Amino acid sequence: MEAQERRVILVSNRGPVQYGREDGQRTTNRGAGGLVTALSGLSGQLQDAVWICAAMSDEDVVVAGESPSGVYPPELDDDDLRIRLVALDPTAQEDFYTVIANPLLWFIQHHLYDLKAGPNITRREMHAFDAGYAAVNRSFAAAVAEEVEAAGGEAIVMVHDYHFYLLPHEVRARCPGVVLHHFVHIPWPQPDSWRVLPPMMREAVFEGMLGNDVVGFHTERYARNFLLGCQELLDLPVDLRAMEVQVDGRVVRARWYPISIDPETFETLAASPDVLQHEEDLAARRRDQLVLRVDRTDPSKNIVRGFLAYDILLQDHPELAERITFLALLQPSRQDVAEYAAYLERIRATVDEVNAKHAIGDWQPIELHVEENLDLAVAAYKQFDVLMVNAIYDGMNLVAKESILVNERNGVLALSENTGAHDELGAFAVTLHPFDLQQQADALYAALTMPAQERRDRREACVRVVRQNDVAKWLQAQLADIDGTVEG
Ligand code: F6P
Repeated sequence: MEAQERRVILVSNRGPVQYGREDGQRTTNRGAGGLVTALSGLSGQLQDAVWICAAMSDEDVVVAGESPSGVYPPELDDDDLRIRLVALDPTAQEDFYTVIANPLLWFIQHHLYDLKAGPNITRREMHAFDAGYAAVNRSFAAAVAEEVEAAGGEAIVMVHDYHFYLLPHEVRARCPGVVLHHFVHIPWPQPDSWRVLPPMMREAVFEGMLGNDVVGFHTERYARNFLLGCQELLDLPVDLRAMEVQVDGRVVRARWYPISIDPETFETLAASPDVLQHEEDLAARRRDQLVLRVDRTDPSKNIVRGFLAYDILLQDHPELAERITFLALLQPSRQDVAEYAAYLERIRATVDEVNAKHAIGDWQPIELHVEENLDLAVAAYKQFDVLMVNAIYDGMNLVAKESILVNERNGVLALSENTGAHDELGAFAVTLHPFDLQQQADALYAALTMPAQERRDRREACVRVVRQNDVAKWLQAQLADIDGTVEG
């Protein structure tokens, strides 16, 4: 039986829809983010799919109570996709999201800690791990197990991301016949990075993940790091050629599938009236050259250093004054986590400083937008001359792929060497070193002054890669590995 013929159970924290209430009426919003977009493509290929996700808004909790076994939201335009919202204890949910998943796991996996200052693991964190992270994983595991049992015990479970490292072990214990595939959307660091967590937590993470049949990452390096962690932290036998680890008489495979986009969907969006309207506005006010960044306000994106590098660029090249704009389109993210709220403040303060230092007349060197506005972002994708992605670490970075595809000015990607996207597009990008401000400033200058033919050649090469390695390929590779597991 192939993967597509079994019930497929998708698990992610953020789901494809979020319910709200306005003027007494229920409203539905399609979820945002790369994960949701990528998985939406998958659901269309399956006959019997259920997507289990957290009830996040108050109205989600009402829907979860009304329809515990799930709903078919008409907005998703897919009669075969049931959405099952898991209502969680609010305190457990808060500890899970704002203490353990973000920042603790996220910061470790993106190397964001300044270890002489944090994290401080206290009773609070230990409690949040047990009563928040582990408890939420157990609630989700129970929902998954119910779905597996209802399907006769033979379903395929596709788990997503760092929110659910403990879930696979729980599900396997209850449903031994299941196929478990887990895709991690963020970097997986080397074993020593995990030693920031006390043994109880890091071992729970690895043991939880070893409940899977296949563990998937964006790059080979992350997959290898996972296996090295199993070897060093759990003392398990690992085969780095076959990329697998033995545990409890089973084999767990580590694989890599670079996530991508659906080029057609993006091109259609780029031609939509709302995007064209924003593009017209941008074209009317733009200077000669546009440097763009589009990011969530996440410390891993390295936004402050990007502005400091731009400051150096303007200092080193006064001839750029009034001829260039740095357009920063930033979506507020995780503002209920203290570190994220503080980071947004630093972003605003840095923009004010750079603008105060260099502004001339009505020219503002940086134009900052802090809002969620996909149409504006796509209009800017079409218009940029240089896209800056200087992430400290980033699992993939889909902005690089989306933007180069629809860009109309032979824009150049200035891409951090620490992004998953750099493995695929680095050869045609200008590489940025995320901590070296002078290098970033020089690289921006090189990109801004690159000869037209070279810009064109590089962009066309990037576009070929994005078209070839599209999201359908990402999904097919995973389903093929799942089929291999089912047959094996
Ligand atoms: O990169 C991991 C990820 O889960 C993305 O898929 C998503 O866009 C982003 O983080 C959003 O995080 P959150 O759900 O916390 O807003």
